[in-house]
Amino acid sequence: MLKIVNLNSGYNKTKILHGVYLEINPKEIVVLIGPNGAGKSTALKSIFSLADVYSGKIIFKDIDITDLKTHELISLGISFVPQGRQVFSNMTVLENLEMGAFTINDQDIVKRSIENIFKKFTILEKKQNALAGNLSGGQQQLLAIARALIQNPQILLLDEPSLGLDPKTMKEVFEKIVEIKNEGISVLMVEQNAKQAVEIADRTYILENGTIAVEGGKDILKNKKIKDIYFGGGASF
Ligand SMILES: Nc1ncnc2c1ncn2[C@@H]1O[C@H](COP(=O)(O)OP(=O)(O)OP(=O)(O)O)[C@@H](O)[C@H]1O
Ligand SMILES: [Mg+2]
Repeated sequence: MLKIVNLNSGYNKTKILHGVYLEINPKEIVVLIGPNGAGKSTALKSIFSLADVYSGKIIFKDIDITDLKTHELISLGISFVPQGRQVFSNMTVLENLEMGAFTINDQDIVKRSIENIFKKFTILEKKQNALAGNLSGGQQQLLAIARALIQNPQILLLDEPSLGLDPKTMKEVFEKIVEIKNEGISVLMVEQNAKQAVEIADRTYILENGTIAVEGGKDILKNKKIKDIYFGGGASF
């Protein structure tokens, strides 16, 4: 579905990722963990054309998307939820969802998409006229995810959806992510909460200093690398 081959990328002249290989199969949740500053967000931004790619390839369903622009990627079926739940605080929930649909011209389709979202995210329907800035952290994260889903993606890139959430809310957000996967959408998710993320993942990669250090299934938590990487780090498991 999505394949990253020998990717070297960064920002201007600062190289952050060094020869990264990643693969996401259809209907998979793939998790990317690693210490702060390892380049996890940069990996997602490289896919979404928000970082500079120096060499290597990004392939989506046999199409070379390495040099495509963000709006072209959205049209192809790739959506991105950035780190730090970036909702428009001074707009209502409904207006935020309408913003997510900016690439869709047909207003009937937009209306139907929002109705579908409301079926899945009943709390957003209930709060549709509330200002996004007045929602709880978990609700804002759900809104950010819902806004990305409006674009009807085949793959969703999620950057630290659990950031700043209490354990119970994190569990609810992760359950939604599993629901999204069960509807047939592939998910590439960056996470700091390794244990909880690996539990819902089909496969996990550990990124360290801009390179993939380990790839594995749920047993990856027993890998010595995890202890090395997280010892003294901010991650919890
Ligand atoms: N826009 C940018 N311009 C220049 N350097 C950047 C930019 N964004 C990030 N970096 C640098 O790239 C490196 C990797 O950052 P990145 O955000 O990808 O890490 P991360 O693994 O997502 O970390 P975190 O867990 O803190 O979110 C860091 O050294 C960071 O300072
Ligand atoms: Mg990050």
